[in-house]
Amino acid sequence: MKLGLFACAAVAGACAFAAAPATEKKIDDLLKRMTLEEKVGQLVQIGSGDFASGDVEKGPLDSRVANAVARGEAGLLISCCGIRKYNQLQKLAVEESRLGIPIMLGHDVIHGCRTVAPIPLGLSCAWDEELWRGLAETLAAEARTRGIDWTFAPMLDVSRDARWGRIAECAGQDPFLASRYAVAMVRGFQGDNPADGRHVAACLKHYVGYGACEGGRDYNTVELSDDTLRNVYLPPFEAGVRAGALSVMPAFHVMNGVPCSANPYLLRDTLRGRFGFEGLTVSDWGSIGELVPPRHGVYANLADAAAGALAAGMDVDMMSDAYRKHLAGKVKIGVVGAAALDEAVRHVLRVKFALGLFEHPYADEKLLGKLDLEKHAEQMRVAARKSVVLLKNEKRVLPLKKGARVVLMGELGDNPTEMLGTWQTWNVPGENATLLAGLKADGVDVVYAPCYTVTGAVDAAAVVAAATNADVVVATFGELCGPNVSMNGENTSRADVGLPGEQDKVVRALRAAGKPFVAVLFNGRPLAIPELAEACDALVEAWNPGSSGGWGVADVMTGVAEPTGRLTVDFPHKTGECPLYYNRLQTGRPWVEGNMWTTRYIDAPSPGKSLFPFGFGLAYVSFGYANEKVSVEGDKVVFTADVTNLGGRAGEEVVQVYVRDVVACVSRPRRELKGWRRLELAGGETKTARIEVPVSALGFWHAGRRVPGEGEFRAWIAPDSDRGRELSFTIGGNGK
Ligand code: BGC
Repeated sequence: MKLGLFACAAVAGACAFAAAPATEKKIDDLLKRMTLEEKVGQLVQIGSGDFASGDVEKGPLDSRVANAVARGEAGLLISCCGIRKYNQLQKLAVEESRLGIPIMLGHDVIHGCRTVAPIPLGLSCAWDEELWRGLAETLAAEARTRGIDWTFAPMLDVSRDARWGRIAECAGQDPFLASRYAVAMVRGFQGDNPADGRHVAACLKHYVGYGACEGGRDYNTVELSDDTLRNVYLPPFEAGVRAGALSVMPAFHVMNGVPCSANPYLLRDTLRGRFGFEGLTVSDWGSIGELVPPRHGVYANLADAAAGALAAGMDVDMMSDAYRKHLAGKVKIGVVGAAALDEAVRHVLRVKFALGLFEHPYADEKLLGKLDLEKHAEQMRVAARKSVVLLKNEKRVLPLKKGARVVLMGELGDNPTEMLGTWQTWNVPGENATLLAGLKADGVDVVYAPCYTVTGAVDAAAVVAAATNADVVVATFGELCGPNVSMNGENTSRADVGLPGEQDKVVRALRAAGKPFVAVLFNGRPLAIPELAEACDALVEAWNPGSSGGWGVADVMTGVAEPTGRLTVDFPHKTGECPLYYNRLQTGRPWVEGNMWTTRYIDAPSPGKSLFPFGFGLAYVSFGYANEKVSVEGDKVVFTADVTNLGGRAGEEVVQVYVRDVVACVSRPRRELKGWRRLELAGGETKTARIEVPVSALGFWHAGRRVPGEGEFRAWIAPDSDRGRELSFTIGGNGK
C-alpha cells in the first residue's frame, strides 16, 4: 500500500520510504531532460568548502565548489559550511544550473550540534525509545539551523568488541535493542514529514558488519557467516529501512572478500531486494577510491572502480572523485548501462523531493533564533541522567549525603570539552556543564583537586593528601575524547582497553587513603577495570555525557534523579576476552565454575561471567521479581512478572525478557533479548510487567531462509542477561 512518500509494510507502524507516483513522474521528466554529465553530477558529493584551509565556514565561497554547483556537476555536498554559504550555494544550484536541481548538504550530526546528547553508546543504555526519538528531533532542528539537510546517522553497527573505538557511536551489542534504537532515531531525524524544514534525512550506517572487524581494529577485514550476518548484523538496518530511512551508507571494509562499497549481494539482493529500500546509497568517505590497488584491489583503476561500484548498487560517490572523473566515460562506451545510471539518479532525486528541496530549497536563516536552546539543554540533561549506569554502590555511599564534604579529583572532573565525546560539532564549550558544575548546582559541598590527568604521571602521595579532608572522594577516570586527543570514535581502536596512563595508580592510592571512594567513568567503550571495580565503593558509568552531562551525572549522584540506565555491552575483565557478548553460543562445553574441561581462560573469569553483563545496572533501591510466567497466546508469547520496589524511595526497573531455543537445526545463543518494559515504582509498590513477543520473533535465519522458532524454549524475565528464574514454554505441538 503506497501512502505518499512512505509505503507501509506488514510490520506494525513501519513504513519503508517509497516515492509517490506523482514524484516519480517529475523524476521521469527530469531524467528525460538531463544530460549525461548532469546525471553524473547528481551522484557526486564533494566538500562544501576548502578543507585544506581548515575551516569551511569562514571566508568566501570556494570557487571550485561554487562552479561545480552552478554547472550541475555536484548535486551533493558534505560538511557544514554555515547557513549563509549554504543558501548562496543553493541559489547557484537553483538559479544558475541549467535544470535548477537543488543541492543537498550532508553532515555528521551524530549525537549533537549546538547542544550535545551523550554518545550513542551511552544513549543506548537508557533503553528508552521515546527519549531517543525526541533527541533525534532536537538534533535535526539544530542541524537545520546550519542548512544541513541530511545527517550521516544513526550508526547501527552491532559491536561486540570493546577494542573497536567506534563502539562509542553505536547502540551496543544487541541486534534487538539496536533495531528499536534504529526505528526511534529514524523517526526522530525525519519526523512525520521530512520536508517540514525542521527535519533531516537519516542515513543508516555503516552497512554492514563493520563492528565485527578483526581484532577490533578499525577499517579491518570482516569475515562473517551469512547466518550471523542475517541474525545479528542486518536486523537494525532492516528495521531502519522499514522505518522509512531515506539513505544508507555502505561501510569501508571487506566482507567475506568483497568490499561493502561494491557488493551486489549486500546492496542489491539484500538492501533493495529483500528490505525494499528505495532511497539512496552513499559511499563512505572516499571508499570507492579504496577499491583499487594497493588497497582492496578489486578493480584495476579508479575508472573501473566507478563502474563496478555503480553496477553493484552504490548511488553516490562521497569524496573519491571516481564518478566525477570516470562515470560518463564508462556510460559512453557502454560499460555502465544508461538504465543503471538513471536508476541511481532517481534514488537521489527521490530523496531531494522527499526533503521538499524542490519546493523550499533555502534554509531558514532565522531558525536558530526560533529554537528554545534552554529547553534543548534540559533535554540533554535528562538524556545524560538516563544514560548513566550505576555499576556498584556499597555502603550506600551514593546518593551523596547532604552536607558531606566531597573532594572531586581528576582532569575529567572539570573539563568542558571532555564531556562531549566523538563527533564534536559547533557546540560552545563555555555552555557545557562539567561534573564540578553539576555537583555545585545540586548543592554539594565540593572542592576540586585535579591531582592527575588521564595520560600523565600520577603522584600517588598528592592523591592521598587531597583525600585527607574529604568525607567522600569522587574520582574521575576514563578516556580522553577532546578535540586534540581522542581515545574513542573513528580509528581509535585500542589493543588494551584498561584505564589509559597511570590511572591505576590513583586507584591504589585511593584504596590506601581509606576514604569512601566513588569512581566516575567518562569513556566511550566498555573498559577492563577489575581493580577499580573492586577498590571503589561506588562506580558510576557516565560515558561521554554531552553538553549538559555534568548536570545529569550529578543529578544521579545526588539522588535528584534515580539511576535507571542499563548496560548494552558486556564489560570484560581483560582485553583478551574481546569479543565478549552475552548472546554467545553455549559451546559443547559451557563454562562451569571449577571444571577445567569447560570453555574458559585460565587467567580470566569470562566467558562464564563478564565484569558487568549486558542489561546490568543498579538503582538506589532493589527490586524483587515474583510470579514470573510465560504463556503462548495465538501468535504471541506473553511474559508477565510481578516486580516490587523493595526500597523506601521511588525507583525504575527495566524488566528484560530473554529467550533460548533449546533444540534447533543450528546451535542457538544461550540467551537473546526479545523485549523489555520500564516500570516506575514507588517505594514498596508492586506492578505487573507484561511483555508480548510475536512468535515470529523466535525464528532465525539459516542457510538463506527464515526458520520458524519451534519446540522447547527457555525464558527469563530478568533484571539483566545473567540473572532470572528459568522458565519454559513450547511452540508448536502441545504448546500452541
Ligand atoms: C566515517 C563516516 C562518516 C563520513 C563522513 C567517514 O570517515 O566513517 O561515519 O559519516 O566519514 O564524515
